[in-house]
Amino acid sequence: MADRLREEIIKLKAEREAIILAHNYQREEIQLLADYIGDSLDLARYSTKVKEKVVAFAGVDFMAQTAAMLNPDKTVLIPDPMARCPMAAQLRLEMVREARRRHPGAAVVLYINTLAETRAEADIVCTSANATQIVNALEEDEIIFGPDKNLAWYVQQRSDKRIIPLPDFGYCYVHRMFTAADILLKKEKYPDAEVLVHPECDPEVQRLASHICSTSQMLVRAKASPAKRFIIATEIGMVERLRREFPDKEFVPALDTAVCQQMKKHDLQKLYESLRDLKHVVKVPPDVAARARRATERMLELSGRATGD
Ligand code: 13P
Ligand code: SF4
Repeated sequence: MADRLREEIIKLKAEREAIILAHNYQREEIQLLADYIGDSLDLARYSTKVKEKVVAFAGVDFMAQTAAMLNPDKTVLIPDPMARCPMAAQLRLEMVREARRRHPGAAVVLYINTLAETRAEADIVCTSANATQIVNALEEDEIIFGPDKNLAWYVQQRSDKRIIPLPDFGYCYVHRMFTAADILLKKEKYPDAEVLVHPECDPEVQRLASHICSTSQMLVRAKASPAKRFIIATEIGMVERLRREFPDKEFVPALDTAVCQQMKKHDLQKLYESLRDLKHVVKVPPDVAARARRATERMLELSGRATGD
């Protein structure tokens, strides 16, 4: 059954002149069919180079919106429209406007995990891979930063600017599952392991990290590191990808229940139906898309020039 679906998807992809993009947290069955897999920054960058007419995007809503706003003349599909990142829904447009009124001299830096309507209010976007670089490259000394409070904390540790988290409760329910005790237990069992932590984790977990990385930066670190074993504090799909890419190294999930239910909504059947019926089209109103695109492209320009953390 799975083999037949895979064959059908490959056939449809050619017929539709489509490309499949997938986030690192996607199910293995999707990753193995994808033309490109990456973190939010990789996927945004890659979206600027798409030649195909149709993009089937296996990721959550804000990521598919990024692909859509960067490709206004192409059809961007999301196999399951319920793949919605709860964190992205935590920051609404009016909250950003209100914060601007309260801090008129501040720049607004929004994590790419925001919906297009809100993102259109940003001066610039960032991802987990470049948040510090983006903030430190700006002229303003005050930065309204949202929606992830833990990422805001991470940036504050690396910047002399005043970071104002917006909202003051923004979080990812998956990364908030990790506790310091989870990491300490694994470190006790595997004292030789490097600890790779996503910056959406709580500060107490970040403090125990050997390296704090976006998902794709974990791949880079795992390759460059002399270590043979790694404790991974992010969504479980990343552990699967690391194991696949580096079969000679060992990857231990800090918590094997850290599953993003929204990312896992896509499967082979839905991807097949999406390409077959050209559904569900990701639509961003043109005026919103133009403003959100500007903030996203500004990030891509700055990020290209910046050096690593
Ligand atoms: P990355 O950009 O690091 O892949 O993070 C995306 C995300 O949603 C993390 O939960
Ligand atoms: Fe959103 Fe968290 Fe899922 Fe990432 S892991 S898509 S931030 S809910």
